[in-house]
Amino acid sequence: MMDRLAEINLEAHMHYLHPNRMPWDSCATEQELDFLSRSLIGSPGQEEKTIAYLYKELAQLAELEMHVSSVLVRVLAEIQSSPDSRLSRGEILYHALSCFAAEEVQHANTFYQYVRRLSGRDVKLLNNLFHERMELFQGDESPLVKLAALCATAYVGESIITVFERRMKTLDADRRFFFTNLLHYHGLDEARHIRSDHFVFDYVVPSLTQAELRRMHQIIEDTENLNTQLALGAAKQFKEEFNVDFTEENHSARVQLMLTQEFRRVVQGGDLIRKVDDGLNPSIQMLLCDFSRAPTVHSSLYI
Ligand SMILES: [Fe+2]
Ligand SMILES: [Fe+2]
Repeated sequence: MMDRLAEINLEAHMHYLHPNRMPWDSCATEQELDFLSRSLIGSPGQEEKTIAYLYKELAQLAELEMHVSSVLVRVLAEIQSSPDSRLSRGEILYHALSCFAAEEVQHANTFYQYVRRLSGRDVKLLNNLFHERMELFQGDESPLVKLAALCATAYVGESIITVFERRMKTLDADRRFFFTNLLHYHGLDEARHIRSDHFVFDYVVPSLTQAELRRMHQIIEDTENLNTQLALGAAKQFKEEFNVDFTEENHSARVQLMLTQEFRRVVQGGDLIRKVDDGLNPSIQMLLCDFSRAPTVHSSLYI
């Protein structure tokens, strides 16, 4: 069992996202903005809407990533001060969660750099609910309950961005555009996060007691409520800041909303936690085929 976790990060130092590797000068050229308008909004000439949409979505994602990273560090510290278990003995779990946490900080760093350079503006997300979201993970339950709840919520967003990465690659197979490369490098890390999440769903969640599972679901529900509040607040703020309703006639925004609802239902809706491809409705599979040319979210390689 632990071999499977150890294997995930063997090449983490070779394939990863770091903001210094990005060719920032090309992130907001005319051709790039035209490509983004067509592939995200679904029509040409929507550059302003595209920039506002990306600023909101990626700032929000960066906020979630900072939260994931912070909670993972808390879990690490709590595991270090708990008695040994089959999972926590030795360096494997510690290493896996450390890699995960470090990568998420660099994702937040990269995405915030990106939206600031793309827009030429620096708009702070005024109400990021960080303290409220951290508070949910400050209880005295086992750190494994926190880890399970965290992965079950982070996984939904990680699955959504995987779909977007695949869409960009189908439209830009040679990765000529900046955004495709950004999602590609991000995806190198995400592939490992997805596999780590799957490990947690396969081995950690089933090991929890009934009371711990109830607690896990409570944390998941509270986290999702705060994430929804964060999303609504960010949408309102950025619509005002950029003076454009970027959700109107926006193909990606529509798809993203449908996928989010469906992924939450599949992943979090049962007693245990399910992998997203284990319960998708056929209509969503068709939507995925249309949007990213594949009926599944994660390739079998990730399992
Ligand atoms: Fe990430
Ligand atoms: Fe991730």
